[in-house]
Amino acid sequence: MGAYQDFHKRSIDKRDEFWAEQARLIDWHQPFERVLDYSRPPFAKWFVGGLTNLCHNAVDRHLAERGEQKALIYISTETGQSRTYTYRELHAEVNRCAAVIMAQGVAKGDRVLIYMPMIPEAVFAMLACARLGAIHSVVFGGFASHSLASRIDDARPKLMITADAGMRGGKAIAYKHLVDEAIRLAQHPPHAVIIVNRGIDKDFATVAGRDLDYAELRAQHMDTQVPVTWLESSEPSYILYTSGTTGRPKGVQRDTGGHAVALAASMKHIYCGHPGETMFTTSDIGWVVGHSYIVYGPLIRGMASILYEGLPIRPDAGIWWKIVAENKVTVMFSSPTAARVLKKQDPAYLRKYDLSLLRHLFLAGEPLDEPTHRWMAESLGRPVIDHYWQTETGWPILTSAPGVEQTPVKYGSPSFPAFGYDLRLLRETDAAEAGPNEKGVVAIVPPLPPGCMTTVWGDDERFVETYFTSFRDKLVYTTFDWGIRDAEGYHFILGRTDDVINVAGHRLGTREIEEAVQAHPNIAEVAVVGVADQLKGQMPLAFAVVKDAARIATPELRREHEKEVMETVDKQLGAIARPAHVHFVTLLPKTRSGKLLRRSIQALAEGRDPGDLTTIEDPAALDQIRAALAAASA
Ligand code: PRX
Repeated sequence: MGAYQDFHKRSIDKRDEFWAEQARLIDWHQPFERVLDYSRPPFAKWFVGGLTNLCHNAVDRHLAERGEQKALIYISTETGQSRTYTYRELHAEVNRCAAVIMAQGVAKGDRVLIYMPMIPEAVFAMLACARLGAIHSVVFGGFASHSLASRIDDARPKLMITADAGMRGGKAIAYKHLVDEAIRLAQHPPHAVIIVNRGIDKDFATVAGRDLDYAELRAQHMDTQVPVTWLESSEPSYILYTSGTTGRPKGVQRDTGGHAVALAASMKHIYCGHPGETMFTTSDIGWVVGHSYIVYGPLIRGMASILYEGLPIRPDAGIWWKIVAENKVTVMFSSPTAARVLKKQDPAYLRKYDLSLLRHLFLAGEPLDEPTHRWMAESLGRPVIDHYWQTETGWPILTSAPGVEQTPVKYGSPSFPAFGYDLRLLRETDAAEAGPNEKGVVAIVPPLPPGCMTTVWGDDERFVETYFTSFRDKLVYTTFDWGIRDAEGYHFILGRTDDVINVAGHRLGTREIEEAVQAHPNIAEVAVVGVADQLKGQMPLAFAVVKDAARIATPELRREHEKEVMETVDKQLGAIARPAHVHFVTLLPKTRSGKLLRRSIQALAEGRDPGDLTTIEDPAALDQIRAALAAASA
């Protein structure tokens, strides 16, 4: 048996022993009494009775040994700024920020909503919340006011922290303005909003008695020390909203001890990052990849982490490799879409810089096609590892673990189940295990390993209902992804089983986009599907029925109307969710019981056979879809 296979087997067969060993990778203020309490399946409590704190493990713990080493390296090609913080400086900033947050009456268990661009203060705010035992909920800056409002109402934060603006491709993006709008829409708004004023948006409005300036507050706490609040291992550390089948985003809740241990173990065995080295993750703090591998993972490991505000091809397509070379990056993490973007650029940029210290490039977030995987590995001359996971799990489900064994990479495959995951591929029909090269639903036999979501925020029932009831007689966690395993044990992910789509690595629910389209007053009904896109993996496409047909009577009016609908989506949900096209039809394909036949629409849009249509109410609806698609490509 290979070393990794052995390692994985032990993580399942000798679960408690395995995880007790991994738990030594972090500091415990008080040791745990039991590794796992699984008395209430599928709810798992890891490291029961142990007291710890994420901020302590990410920051304070390193002061003695590496206080003067770099912790956070901020590089913005948008503003031309860069700033570096040693662990000691990061500690000071986090204490100031924690004092500021505490002064707003925030205590253990209170929620703080962070809606910020990629600036160091966003990281300080996350770590400061962790220090206080407050629960942060970071919302991705690409989400617009309506999405933000629904997250405010679900999390009910006491406080929000934002900035005046972000920057993307040289253009300012209003943050504070959107926060104002979201607060107007919300039923349960926070009592205070702290603003980091970057001086980008000169005329954002300030609401007296509610809005506070971070610089002013920070100045009052330059030397304040805020003691760490020790949390029992299962107490929540954060909530991160993610999309599913319904229009209502789910608050993925993560614990404290299991989370810290899983990240520490993944940094060592999967990412092969060593203390004192530098990691560069190109995601955003608003996504799970940013939470795990910009903020907590590298810092828990005692590494320096790069926080990059900018695009991969500005000022030129060599910028990331320049950053890698200049900062001696040993671990890099990016997305398949970024790889496809870079593939279209001059390959000379990849040879311009010394990348010899880079041990691996990890890619995740969406399917990595074989040609892009091969191209990236060959051009970079370094191993490129595809790995597969979800917001729900917080760290890899399928991966190779070069820290344990350098297993050969197969292009297009995220390799093997990560340690701790009892992964199965189950036939959809009878929940039996799929054979080699047979498609099945990627499922995990609970208990989910440490670091995975512990519940849906405020809704245990929804957690069980959503993730554990796909198979009637089997209590398993479903990922909602299809997968296959080849004869050598390598896995391949074949796409989602549900209505979730993935646009450039951004996970979106088609139902959410439909609701945003329907916010336009002239839309009666709409179906949104994801269609394959060469660059972004998938793109949303909308088929809408209007109320007043006079508004789309001529081609010009149609175009005008389509634009209006797209702008409605931008405003409601965010430009990342904007459909590539809005096609107008008078009828949508549905089953006789009224269910939208999204799969058939998607198949037609991708030029495939629409599949089984025995339940369709009116076949003419599909003709309209065909006609709309044909007209658009004519
Ligand atoms: O469909 C899978 C796809 O992205 C989904 C999870 O997205 P998110 O919650 O945003 O978490 C991203 C964390 C990296 C999965 O259900 N996905 C993620 N990684 C891969 C992938 N699909 C294929 N290959 C991958 N490596």
